[in-house]
Amino acid sequence: SSEERSSVQTLLKQELLEDDWDIYSFHINSTVSSRYATTVITSRVANRMDQSKEIAFHVQIPKNAFISKFRMMMDGEVFDGVVKTKERAQQQYTQAVLLGQSAGIVSSVGRTMEEFKTSVTVAAHKKVTFELTYEELLKRTHGKYELQIHARPMQPVKDFKVDVHIHEKAGIRFIDVKGGLSTLANAVTKTHADKQASVYFYPTVDQQKTCERCGEQGLNGDLVIVYDVNQDNGLGDIRISDGYFVHHFAPSNLPRIPKNVVFVIDRSGSMHGRKIEQTRAALIHILNDLTEDDFFGIICFDQDIFHWKRELVPATASNVERAKEFAQSIFERGATNINGAVLEGASMLNAQSREGSASILIFLTDGDPTAGEINLEKIQSNVREAIAEKFPLYCLGFGSDVNFEFLEKMSLQNNGVARRIYEDSDADLQLKGFYEEVATPLLTDVTMIYVGGSNLTQTNFSQYYNGSEIVVAGEITDNNIETFTPQVVAYSVNRTVTFSNTSGSTDHPSETVTENLLQRVWAYLTVKQLLERELLLSGPEKEKVNKEALELSLKYSFVTPLTSMVVTKPQGEKSVLHKPKEGVTPLSQGRALLGSISGYPILVDHQTTSIVGTILINVFN
Ligand SMILES: *[C@@H]1O[C@H](CO)[C@@H](O)[C@H](O)[C@H]1NC(C)=O
Ligand SMILES: *[C@@H]1O[C@H](CO)[C@@H](O)[C@H](O)[C@H]1NC(C)=O
Ligand SMILES: *[C@@H]1O[C@H](CO)[C@@H](O)[C@H](O)[C@H]1NC(C)=O
Repeated sequence: SSEERSSVQTLLKQELLEDDWDIYSFHINSTVSSRYATTVITSRVANRMDQSKEIAFHVQIPKNAFISKFRMMMDGEVFDGVVKTKERAQQQYTQAVLLGQSAGIVSSVGRTMEEFKTSVTVAAHKKVTFELTYEELLKRTHGKYELQIHARPMQPVKDFKVDVHIHEKAGIRFIDVKGGLSTLANAVTKTHADKQASVYFYPTVDQQKTCERCGEQGLNGDLVIVYDVNQDNGLGDIRISDGYFVHHFAPSNLPRIPKNVVFVIDRSGSMHGRKIEQTRAALIHILNDLTEDDFFGIICFDQDIFHWKRELVPATASNVERAKEFAQSIFERGATNINGAVLEGASMLNAQSREGSASILIFLTDGDPTAGEINLEKIQSNVREAIAEKFPLYCLGFGSDVNFEFLEKMSLQNNGVARRIYEDSDADLQLKGFYEEVATPLLTDVTMIYVGGSNLTQTNFSQYYNGSEIVVAGEITDNNIETFTPQVVAYSVNRTVTFSNTSGSTDHPSETVTENLLQRVWAYLTVKQLLERELLLSGPEKEKVNKEALELSLKYSFVTPLTSMVVTKPQGEKSVLHKPKEGVTPLSQGRALLGSISGYPILVDHQTTSIVGTILINVFN
């Protein structure tokens, strides 16, 4: 109606005139214990206008993390998210969309972060508090753990705080604060004493406008907490609590195992330009880092396969020099024969079985197979057969045109991992960084044994590299610590090594920072590994693993690719809905009925005047 239209126009005009709302408080609180980080972001917003206002909550969280809690508080009411199966959440989502409402979503941004976004309409002169909790197990690479905290509240905030508390029983070896926000050195306080470390970041409003990449809109950047724990070089760090254990194994005083490494490099037409230049630069760098007792090979491929040398050669100075000349001469052309190239790499490594060495196949591509065998499943089964679990395959997907799931599956089928290489100015550093992670094998065929343990996460690892770690979690059978005996058996250079120790390492109750923490670590690892395994299975096996992962996600309230979180108005409030206030038009009825809350995410079906569901936090792969 024209009346409605003119009122909308008035509204718009008013908003332009006085957009008076602010985030008066923004806190990020991260607690890390046993490398498990639980982070809570709390944003408090006030609508100071005489009319309702849509207020957004927009944050970034690490890709590896699971959201485990989301709540909103408005006008004395608390709205808690509930994790549901995707189908059940989807029904509510569909209803929401039918009502023309929006939903909270998680989408992927950048290399390491995901974006979580939602909004709510806040009534005149009311406040809203958003509280999001996410959890992640930090992963040790290059001899350190990194906790990345992203802050971009979109405006300077009077009461802005980041608090990080780290508690590690093994003792904290060092702690550093990096990232763009750390350039505000005056705002950072760091304390470190043996097993405890804290970082406080309390920038003033003025500082929030002056840091790197920050401006009138306030902070925009990362605070990266980098630390490592003391490694005991024996059996490692075993924490036991509440019937669960988590074992971190990361010895570093072992001799390096000489390696046989073959680089299989895509030089198809699509590698044209910067990609091939960066690949050349990275390869030359990596060749420089090889040690004399390493053997190596290089294969380039388009529709055809080109060897630098038919066989692996030792990394002597003269061989490395010649290989670098070859690397300089790699130019792009032609199609992509992935099948032929990976099989050839595997066959070179198979022909070179040296006692006491570790073989590694590194495959880099930027596209889909277009020549030779192009059926993805056929390629995977060929590769699996050729490698036969003898060495890991690492697949590097360069740029955005790769079928990453195909690469991921192929790596997982062959005891390796897949990595994305982002098309950017530092792609050569990304390549080099990945190589460095696997550059120093210290153990092969690692078997983690836990007598008296059950429901264990993965216990066999084909290779262990310096600077990384192996993590296993499980239950202590019958909570009987007396009979629980962990042990590690693996191969070092030409010999079997066994790690065991008898000194008990049960935590004192006072040391357990959060209740059930180790159980959550176990659940987190188990769900992550089940999701990976699911990728490799089909039929009833896949369903079984999927069901297991789903049940754990629901039990521990993790938002995973199998679940969603729905925030619904509490049941008890429903009755209120049946008592319409006087003098409200049908259009605004739902809003008025909910008092201070109007619009979404509190969705109201106007025909039946019942609440149908609200924010849907969804993980899109
Ligand atoms: C941060 O979280 C921890 C653990 O939940 C809690 O003990 C602490 O009081 C919180 N700190 C702040 C400043 O909110
Ligand atoms: C493994 O890393 C540690 C710590 O950085 C270092 O001291 C040690 O020399 C490395 N071992 C090998 C074999 O490179
Ligand atoms: C742990 O293992 C026991 C059998 O050893 C099984 O009955 C139980 O369901 C398992 N628990 C979980 C959470 O999988």
